[in-house]
Amino acid sequence: MKIGVIGAGVMGRGIAQVSAMAGHKVVLFDINNDVLESAKVGVEKNLNKAIELGKLDAAGKNATDSNLQYSNSIADVQVDLIIEAIVERLDVKTKVLADLADINGESTIYASNTSSIPLTQIAANFKYPTQVVGIHYFNPAHIMKLVEVISAEQTSPEVLQTALNYVESVNKKCVVAKDAPGFIVNRVARHFYVEGLKILEENVASHDVIDDLVRSSGFKMGPFQLMDLIGVETNLSVTESMYKLFNYDQKFRPNRIQQKKAQAGYYGRKSGKGFYTYDK
Ligand SMILES: NC(=O)c1ccc[n+]([C@@H]2O[C@H](COP(=O)([O-])OP(=O)(O)OC[C@H]3O[C@@H](n4cnc5c(N)ncnc54)[C@H](O)[C@@H]3O)[C@@H](O)[C@H]2O)c1
Repeated sequence: MKIGVIGAGVMGRGIAQVSAMAGHKVVLFDINNDVLESAKVGVEKNLNKAIELGKLDAAGKNATDSNLQYSNSIADVQVDLIIEAIVERLDVKTKVLADLADINGESTIYASNTSSIPLTQIAANFKYPTQVVGIHYFNPAHIMKLVEVISAEQTSPEVLQTALNYVESVNKKCVVAKDAPGFIVNRVARHFYVEGLKILEENVASHDVIDDLVRSSGFKMGPFQLMDLIGVETNLSVTESMYKLFNYDQKFRPNRIQQKKAQAGYYGRKSGKGFYTYDK
């Protein structure tokens, strides 16, 4: 199957990598050349690490490299399955999907990696609503085993089945989730971030102490480390979207501390600074 991954940021590069490793031909498209360059470097690093760990051999790496095309031209995205992983905004996703529909037509499948925008809403704004489906990877996409597949109200059974087959082909564990706000995992996990931020806001403890304690109790990462990994602004967009979708239920209230970080461009690992600082 030929796959187009739209957006080469935190998620898109990992989705492109696992798809290419599974033998699919992949075009990874982004409008930002710097992001494409950094995606190339990131994928190379991941593949070398996989070789080091004995999970990939040189032939597998060569095959993956030759399956993967990096492009800044949307005209190159002529594929069977599109997985869109751009900014978490319905208006931007709608525009890009419309452009892709003009290039690809009605038989292509248009999947979104959105964390919180209802697939039914994306499909309602799209020319071929039955072709829309959610394929929601977790971060880091090349490591996390789970993928949620979400059927919009409009999704055809054939499209859902092809999405499930695709997830199986990349050796991920698949769960079919309802098109409910935050699907399954993000809905549960939202309070991890929201409560962490409230504790910080109330000066109960500093962000690094909260992270240390949470890690000591068995979690792999604390909420602030995880927000920095996800992207502070992306995580905020998801909270804002879920807050609205749950009719402004205060338990999902976005936090000013996070809003200020996002406004300042302190996005976390990808910008070199978030709740922590990083070597870029
Ligand atoms: N970060 C996470 O942990 C995570 C996890 C699961 C799902 N998601 C979802 O995945 C999507 C992408 O998130 P991300 O964290 O990878 O974002 P990101 O900001 O790291 O990357 C988005 C990329 O999209 C590109 N882009 C923006 N507009 C574009 C356009 N019109 N055409 C092509 N490329 C465009 C940007 O240049 C950027 O490189 C969002 O919907 C998000 O909710 C994110």
